[in-house]
Amino acid sequence: RFYQKQRTIYKNIPPGPKPWPVVGNFGNFFVPPSVRTKIAGQPNSTNAIEIEALRQQATVFGNIHSLFIGGQLIVVLHGFHLIRDALLNQPEVFSDRPDIPLVTILTKRKGIVFAPYGPVWRKQRKFCHTTLRSFGLGKLSLEPCIQRGLAGVKAELLRLNEERGSAGVDPATLIGNSVSNVICSLILGQCFHHHDVEFRTMIRLMEHGLKICINSPAVLINIFPLLYYLPFGVFKELRQVERDITAFLKRIIAKHRDTLDPDNPRDLTDMYLIEMLTQQAAGVEDSSFTDDYLFYVIGDLFIAGTDTTTNSILWFLLYMILHPDVQDKAQAEIDGVVGKHRVPSVTDKGSLPFTEATIMEVQRLHSVVPLAIPHMTSETTVFRGYTIPKGTVIFPNLWSVHRDPTLWEDADSFNPSRFLDNEGNLLRKEYFIPFGIGRRVCMGEQLAKMELFLTVTTLLQAFKFRHPEGNPPPTVKERFGLTMAPCPFSVCVTPRGGPNLNP
Ligand code: HEM
Repeated sequence: RFYQKQRTIYKNIPPGPKPWPVVGNFGNFFVPPSVRTKIAGQPNSTNAIEIEALRQQATVFGNIHSLFIGGQLIVVLHGFHLIRDALLNQPEVFSDRPDIPLVTILTKRKGIVFAPYGPVWRKQRKFCHTTLRSFGLGKLSLEPCIQRGLAGVKAELLRLNEERGSAGVDPATLIGNSVSNVICSLILGQCFHHHDVEFRTMIRLMEHGLKICINSPAVLINIFPLLYYLPFGVFKELRQVERDITAFLKRIIAKHRDTLDPDNPRDLTDMYLIEMLTQQAAGVEDSSFTDDYLFYVIGDLFIAGTDTTTNSILWFLLYMILHPDVQDKAQAEIDGVVGKHRVPSVTDKGSLPFTEATIMEVQRLHSVVPLAIPHMTSETTVFRGYTIPKGTVIFPNLWSVHRDPTLWEDADSFNPSRFLDNEGNLLRKEYFIPFGIGRRVCMGEQLAKMELFLTVTTLLQAFKFRHPEGNPPPTVKERFGLTMAPCPFSVCVTPRGGPNLNP
């Protein structure tokens, strides 16, 4: 009866499995950690179970199908053509974000990532996007900062490698710190050392908050929002972390305001404060450029920009130890173009097509944000003959695009050459969309590409990466988290000589 009632309320929606009362199709989609461990053999892996469940549903119901989480209607879009038709061809309908209770409590739907589609989001995004772009160039360029950070990563990797010997080094923390460092420089205007107290505090608070939101009973707040106010357990802890992050960011903003020189902005926070002053001077009424918004924008950039880039780099390193022939070829290309007397620069990008193709192939095989960030319809629409009501949550399945056998030959295999033509030039494919498409496409795409390129070329120039002998072979299974991460793995490095490294 519940099923019939849902289908009567939502007439002509895409087909899908029968929902249960109260929980809907929660059970078809979310896999408890114990089952997850049993299937994948490693705690918390693999996120791909949900992706696999969606794939199976697509084989039964078609490339556009529905499901219910509780009473919320969700429509999943599989394949490039459906995603393009929705996000690119009907952007006014498909670009909103859903109101997810835990996210709404923490972000007040301000900032950019979860802000409702509309004029305020557009202004904030446009300002931040332009500002981010300016960090690729001129005085504010992030390149020297990234290169300095990578020199530290290389030295630390070498030190740990010597200390641990044949056991190898888990690169996750080092890479994570290096990526967070870039975001810190962007926002706080300084390159921090990994042991810097302010830097560590910020990272620790963010990581702790995210861990609670993803891997604890706090997720139940999404079903029973009042749980957030419980005076014990993870709920109390979450509120404390929120207070600590607020106090920390407010201190940073106040420090920036006290030392602001409008003619010499140091970072995104300065640029934002200058925009606030400009709007005040121009008498703009109801400006959304406020301290409050700045606070949530900073949080968004930290969260959207760290896990995603870190995991993309870790996947790359994992594939390098699994495919030493590809590693050799990329290193030969880097040696030929960059040599050993300087570090790689973004200006080398166009001259390293094989290395670029390898980065793209890793991103294709492991879409670190496999279902993008949920979208929502802002009005009722007819799409591919189905009615999609206003307020429907939309999952664009990017993973399905990158593993579609009609678009990619031997889609599950690792083959960087698929991104090269016969002359070895890089091929751009419109259906390669790790950063999403449409109005909500990743705002940090250019920055992420720069970080990815500089990090992998610098590390490949400096080291030969291999799997520690005697350890079980690393797996390409995914780990559940904010984004698709590889399961922990270790690497052994052999210095190849080069800038800042004396073998
Ligand atoms: C959104 C991927 C790095 C900032 C997204 C989306 C994807 C994505 C798939 C969702 C698109 C959609 O909803 O349709 C990635 C990948 C990255 C990366 C694969 C790294 C390899 C970054 C970085 C930043 C960033 C470094 C900023 C510093 C954002 C923001 C949004 C976003 C602000 C929300 C855009 C909006 O709602 O308007 N990203 N991202 N991302 N990303 Fe990234």
